[in-house]
Amino acid sequence: MDLRSDTVTRPTAAMRAAMAAAEVGDDGYGEDPTVNALEARAAQILGKPAAVFTPSGVMANQMAMRVLTRPGDVVIAGANQHVVDFEMGASARNAQVQFATLPDDDGRLDPAAVLARLDAEADHRAAVGAIAVENTHMVSGGTPWALGDLRALAAAVDRPIHLDGARLFNAVVATGTSAADYAATATTVMVCLSKGLAAPVGSILAGPTDLMERARLERKRLGGAMRQAGILAAAGLVALTDMVERLADDHRRARVLAEAVAAAFPRAGYDPATCRTNMVVFAHDDARALVAELAADGVLAGTLAPRVVRLVTHLDVDDDDLDHVVDVLARRRRA
Ligand SMILES: Cc1ncc(COP(=O)(O)O)c(C=O)c1O
Repeated sequence: MDLRSDTVTRPTAAMRAAMAAAEVGDDGYGEDPTVNALEARAAQILGKPAAVFTPSGVMANQMAMRVLTRPGDVVIAGANQHVVDFEMGASARNAQVQFATLPDDDGRLDPAAVLARLDAEADHRAAVGAIAVENTHMVSGGTPWALGDLRALAAAVDRPIHLDGARLFNAVVATGTSAADYAATATTVMVCLSKGLAAPVGSILAGPTDLMERARLERKRLGGAMRQAGILAAAGLVALTDMVERLADDHRRARVLAEAVAAAFPRAGYDPATCRTNMVVFAHDDARALVAELAADGVLAGTLAPRVVRLVTHLDVDDDDLDHVVDVLARRRRA
């Protein structure tokens, strides 16, 4: 049972069939019909004029950093966001930006704190090129933003916002907000096809046409331009069409796990009500030892920090698997 991440899924039979049958061409010339179809469909779903298919979410985030900022700029972001702390310093290396980090323990940025940093430009502080937000916010436990909060942030600031929506569709399913309504609060939006949606490879960066033309050049500079990528885009189209609604199953199962975790580790102070999508993120004094013990019981979990454990539900976790994990956790409670 692999609960380390929602990236461990295997492509579905429908994806493999679509990949085998995909019409392809050289995407370097813009001639891959399946890539073109995926980009058009993604742009439509996200309500943006244009979209670019990328090999990974990190690359799409990096392309956004490069088109929204200039070297030396500051990007305001939550301290625990992926683009800040999980991309191996890529934004410093690729876009030559530094982050002004704000508390994001509940997954959100406080508009007042963002405005305070923008105001500080008048006090000899580096210019802010962009603001980055994450929805769902991974480290806080897959927390979805409320649309009203994102709108309030967008209305308060006069800089472009990049929305890291690696798991935007989890937020869509959890809140009932459309992907386009979320994306409308940002200049650029990234979504991953290879996480809960189970495609083997790929993410999308969407935004205004001129920025996406520049983003395509940045993708090339980063070595991410592909050729007959329709083979991959075909799975991405199945992901967008067939795999979004079923995320509700992952959320339901995560909530069951959340209750089991809260019961097994009462000292962790974990509140299962904070589990709103497909992740259970909780404190444990010795997270790595716990992960090793769970592995011995056939349950793979992950750590986000020395004292933080993460369990993630996904397509390849069914109700029988869930029963097993709940049983393993219940045994720990009794031990
Ligand atoms: C919030 C968030 N953003 C971006 C990424 C990067 O995606 P990828 O692994 O496709 O590069 C991840 C990956 O886990 C993520 O969780």
